[in-house]
Amino acid sequence: MRILAIETSCDETGIAILESRETGNRLHSITMRSNIILSQASLHAQYGGVFPAVARREHAKAIIPVIIQALKEAGLTKTVKKARVLTMREERTLGKIFHKEPVLLDDFRAALLSIKIPAIDAIAVTAGPGLEPALWVGINTATALGVLWSIPVIPVNHMEGHILASLLSPKNNNKFTLTTPKFPTLALLISGGHTELVLMPRAGTYKILGQTRDDAVGEAFDKVARMLGLPYPGGPEISRIAETAPKLATPPYPLPRPMLKSGDFDFSFAGLKTAVLYTVKKIENLTPEIKASIAKEFEDSATEILLTKTLAAAKKYKVREIVLGGGVTANKKIRAAFQNAVAENFPETTLFIPGHELSTDNGLMIGVAGFLRASKPKKTIRAQGTMRLAKSSRHPTLAELRKKKKM
Ligand code: KG4
Ligand code: ZN
Repeated sequence: MRILAIETSCDETGIAILESRETGNRLHSITMRSNIILSQASLHAQYGGVFPAVARREHAKAIIPVIIQALKEAGLTKTVKKARVLTMREERTLGKIFHKEPVLLDDFRAALLSIKIPAIDAIAVTAGPGLEPALWVGINTATALGVLWSIPVIPVNHMEGHILASLLSPKNNNKFTLTTPKFPTLALLISGGHTELVLMPRAGTYKILGQTRDDAVGEAFDKVARMLGLPYPGGPEISRIAETAPKLATPPYPLPRPMLKSGDFDFSFAGLKTAVLYTVKKIENLTPEIKASIAKEFEDSATEILLTKTLAAAKKYKVREIVLGGGVTANKKIRAAFQNAVAENFPETTLFIPGHELSTDNGLMIGVAGFLRASKPKKTIRAQGTMRLAKSSRHPTLAELRKKKKM
């Protein structure tokens, strides 16, 4: 099965073309024909975060040229002698799909009516979670391509994509093996918008064990970076300067470990971020060395919280595999801490961590999710900014919290 995948949930326009095949024994073979990521991060850096309207505008500008580039790389752009003429019905449908994006419709027509219908079986597109204005650009383009090429469009949950990116191991020549983990599997999802511990009792089924009650861990990295005068995205910057911090027995600027002993699987990073703010405010001269010490202590705190909760969940639910997913898994300290701790505490358990290039947002992970969800295409797809992996969440209700306090 050959899939064209579209990812536009945040500030990366990701387009991939992949072929997938079941090879039995819990393995699938994935061939990546192209995987292009166009990042808007440098543009958002001046605002210190992602602006949804800017993200939408940039995706709309980039998406058709990037799709054409991906098709070219995959050898799927045969030009036709005479541009295809749309039927009245097709014209009306495309006009409706792009009614808010006339420029995108022009781009779409100019680029796609002059090439032969490529040998692609389906389109996978991120439907959520993410920034809705950004998601719509991908969804509308996917829907329009589905109409033009008469192929199904499969909505994908971005977080499922992050989990699957971890389960891909590279072979040679752009080939990957996709492993089906042994269940129950535990996934820790850590990105700019999410911090969740998810139990997978079987393939494709998710139960949220806990999540952040305020900021996501990636968001905290980004905000702390800003306090330290570092550019967006802050995660890699914090990590870079933390490495230069002096190695001391006790941290010169100690930070709390919020909710470390809360007894559940929820997280809170807003307090940690605020603690950094108070620390920074008290320091008159924020030298590079002090900044590095604060960055290191922040990274240590975040790592300890994530690791402690994940190991506790792994023990409680007797999981057979652990999967890390999302942009924050690019963090070297977090990767190493998990590798060491899982090897020591759960020697029988395989830890899956995405390869560096697949840890942040990309089209390939959306294509892989699309392949596994191929039996569920949709005629109309809606952007769902807060789309969840599981319908019910274990996040305690206010009533439950009040009850807990009384106890
Ligand atoms: O998954 P992702 O690419 O986008 C979302 O779905 O949010 O994650 C982006 C997040 C950002 O908050 C970024 O600062 C963080 O991942 N990140 C890192 C590192 N690289 C990216 N955080 C910590 N250390 C890193 N090396
Ligand atoms: Zn992501």
